[in-house]
Amino acid sequence: MPAAVLDALTPTAQRLVVNRRGSTVWEAESPRGHYAVKAGYPIEATADWPAQPWTALAPAREGAVLHRLGLDDLAYGEWDGGTWNYQPWHEGPDLYQLWEPCRRPDAAVQPHISVALGCVEALAELHGKGWAHGDVQPAHFIIGIERTHLIDLALARGGYVPTGYDFPFRGCLVHYEAPEIARSVLATGQAEPTQEADIYALGASLLISATGRRAVEYPDDAPRPVQREAVASGRRRDVKVPGELGALIDTMLSHEPADRPTAYEVGKALNAL
Ligand SMILES: Nc1ncnc2c1ncn2[C@@H]1O[C@H](COP(=O)(O)OP(=O)(O)OP(=O)(O)O)[C@@H](O)[C@H]1O
Ligand SMILES: [Mg+2]
Repeated sequence: MPAAVLDALTPTAQRLVVNRRGSTVWEAESPRGHYAVKAGYPIEATADWPAQPWTALAPAREGAVLHRLGLDDLAYGEWDGGTWNYQPWHEGPDLYQLWEPCRRPDAAVQPHISVALGCVEALAELHGKGWAHGDVQPAHFIIGIERTHLIDLALARGGYVPTGYDFPFRGCLVHYEAPEIARSVLATGQAEPTQEADIYALGASLLISATGRRAVEYPDDAPRPVQREAVASGRRRDVKVPGELGALIDTMLSHEPADRPTAYEVGKALNAL
């Protein structure tokens, strides 16, 4: 853990949560509370990958966004070629984990409307503040006892971010990428996160978590640009969640951004089910 974080939190217990290329997350218990600690490093170029210097900036960028959104119980800074943040730890399974029983072959369990509602409410809260998340995916919804938290705001757009920590948005996980985002990334290498694209990503997240299958048809091992082509052309697979939740998910996955409901409208529709 970065020395500045050890100094600030003096953790009494810590656990490594993920350690991926460019990013490490720990859970830390401290006299000050329970925190998620993130550290980023630059990814050097390899034969297969171009350099990705933005992974070094992501934790500080996220810290700045959280601060902007009104969260005070956090800090962020620089270390060793990269940046770090700590923020409150949210206890609970993520959406994909929670709906695992729905994906079993003999599934007798239906996806729970209240869980979908919790996810929509978390997204609606962010949208209500004028921000778009940019990286909505099942792992980023933490379903707590009292409420659902939408985490990983490193790519969010909607307010001031210090230029030194900012970087362009280059798309998200293709499974959750809206057609217009995929099209823009293919054409220019970049895109603009929008609330409409977040809604598509929420629909795709609910679909994959409930069925284990993604919205668009493409081979798993296809190169990223080929996957994006499939998403951009909107080749929807015939995968459905049963019932009214399924119909609502379908509208969220509309090809045209303007045809998708807002988070507020999705919340209203779910409340009425
Ligand atoms: N505040 C938090 N509370 C609880 N768990 C968290 C928190 N922040 C991160 N995590 C855990 O760490 C994982 C990775 O965090 P996060 O998605 O923010 O990092 P990342 O480096 O951007 O990963 P990815 O590239 O997969 O998006 C999350 O999926 C979650 O399990
Ligand atoms: Mg993440």
